[in-house]
Amino acid sequence: MTTRTLLLLPGDGIGPEAMAEVEKLIAILNAAGAGFETERGLVGGSAYDAHGAAISEDDMKRALAADAVLFGAVGGPKWDTVPYEARPEAGLLRLRKDLELFANLRPAICYPALAEASSLKRELVEGLDILILRELTGGVYFGEPKTITDLGNGQKRAIDTQVYDTYEIERIARVGFELAKTRRGKVTSMEKRNVMKSGVLWNEVVTRVGREEYPDVALDHMLADAGGMQLVRAPKQFDVIVTDNLFGDMLSDVAAMLTGSLGMLPSASLGAPDAATGKRRALYEPVHGSAPDIAGRGLANPIAMVASLAMCLRYSFAMIAEADALERAVAAVLDSGTRTGDIMAPGCRQVGTSEMGDAIASAFQAELDRA
Ligand code: NAD
Ligand code: IPM
Ligand code: MN
Repeated sequence: MTTRTLLLLPGDGIGPEAMAEVEKLIAILNAAGAGFETERGLVGGSAYDAHGAAISEDDMKRALAADAVLFGAVGGPKWDTVPYEARPEAGLLRLRKDLELFANLRPAICYPALAEASSLKRELVEGLDILILRELTGGVYFGEPKTITDLGNGQKRAIDTQVYDTYEIERIARVGFELAKTRRGKVTSMEKRNVMKSGVLWNEVVTRVGREEYPDVALDHMLADAGGMQLVRAPKQFDVIVTDNLFGDMLSDVAAMLTGSLGMLPSASLGAPDAATGKRRALYEPVHGSAPDIAGRGLANPIAMVASLAMCLRYSFAMIAEADALERAVAAVLDSGTRTGDIMAPGCRQVGTSEMGDAIASAFQAELDRA
């Protein structure tokens, strides 16, 4: 039997609550012979409390060795005063950087049953299926210098640096064009070349890669501020949006609300395929954070985490039938009117995190039995 290793990093706040629901699904997959071997580690504030760092060296090694990492969420007010280097978010950033997960796929799909839960009108979001491709290991997140200096006159100066090299833009652009070829064949690149040098280079490199390597994929460009506006004006005009680390962070939270809730959006963070084996390093995580305002109360929507597992099955293990079955299970549960509070609507039945997880688990089992 194939062994597939998964490192689970539940993290903080609602992270562990959502991860518990995913573990039910892994158990179902294993009962059907999937052969997942799971290990657990600590990340974020929970790792800081145990080790004084946002991720231990030991867990980093396990992340590097695993076939895939499933990540919950990190952060929370409890750790507001820890040193900057040890803040919970640093654990996630180190994982992305050290695993070289440069490509972050953030699909925003509006399930038919949730068209009313969006903050936009039904006709604007019904049938929405777009993909935000966020560059994840460069830009202002990692550029140096990154400092706060005391100027000695009662003033301080903070510096963050946006850096992009040609190769970083080329490789994310190629992922975007390849993904577009499997979808509706359209890439929209977003930057701010009117203000930023990195935007000028971004635009130039994406244009060249498109012209030379992907002449059959339609490419257009938008300034990122206007892109944000278009995303809420007419989101269905997009197919794949390719953008930098910071714009991608913001635009994907915006896109989340098109689908009804931040609790709905999964993501996959992928590295380059290994030259010898073709395998990619990968981490799967919801787009949302640790939601301190609802943590510990069984209120979180686990669907973003569940859909992240579906992406893991699809991209790391080529378990396409199982990934499809899991996505159908989520759709069926939503169709049946079962809702967590964030996506609640009149006439629906409101449930908590674990009840939602149980409903998805039984729908998933039914889908697998039918196959
Ligand atoms: P957040 O995503 O945690 O929460 C924003 C809002 O969305 C909150 O009102 C929350 O209750 C709601 N929400 C989020 N996920 C939900 C879910 N699954 N079900 C129902 N409602 C949900 O963002 P924030 O409040 O800005 O940040 C809180 C902490 O999380 C911060 O420390 C931040 O750095 C961290 N964060 C971590 C990640 C991550 O680990 N990947 C991502 C974003 C933010
Ligand atoms: C995300 C989060 C992270 C980011 C934080 C927690 C470091 O907001 O994954 O969207 O800014 O990338
Ligand atoms: Mn974010």
